[in-house]
Amino acid sequence: MTTMRFSEIRQLLIEEHRHIRSLAAAVSDAAHHVIGGDPAADATMREGLDRLERALGAHNVHEDTLLRDIVPTIDAWGKLRESLLTESHAHEHAALTASLGECRRSSDPHVTAAQVTALVTRMLGHMDAEEREILHPDILRDDVIAISGVSG
Ligand SMILES: [Fe+2]
Ligand SMILES: [Fe+2]
Repeated sequence: MTTMRFSEIRQLLIEEHRHIRSLAAAVSDAAHHVIGGDPAADATMREGLDRLERALGAHNVHEDTLLRDIVPTIDAWGKLRESLLTESHAHEHAALTASLGECRRSSDPHVTAAQVTALVTRMLGHMDAEEREILHPDILRDDVIAISGVSG
């Protein structure tokens, strides 16, 4: 069980999203250079994928452990949120990890670059949805503890 406040959890996960978005932007940029015919960009793209894979792996573990305990307590819909989070969310994390692995499998720069573009779009969509549906300040509020723990 975590002793972090909801606002601290939200800030930590959003800060990790910010870092992942900047790594994803760098990989995406390198992929566009590859597609544009710059062979030197292949190494940059692959290094960027390594960094992105490490950051995403650590973030997904944080997210799974920090959110699993608190999401059921958030509101009346907490149970629904929890089931969405544990099933579709875990599935989406696995899909993103698999898609990252897929990007690295091909040694053809153009194949990898095309996969990177699809991966980054999906990854950004995943983080945007989380920030709307789970990590929004109106949902993950510190006063939620007081509301659910104290009657009246
Ligand atoms: Fe996630
Ligand atoms: Fe996330």
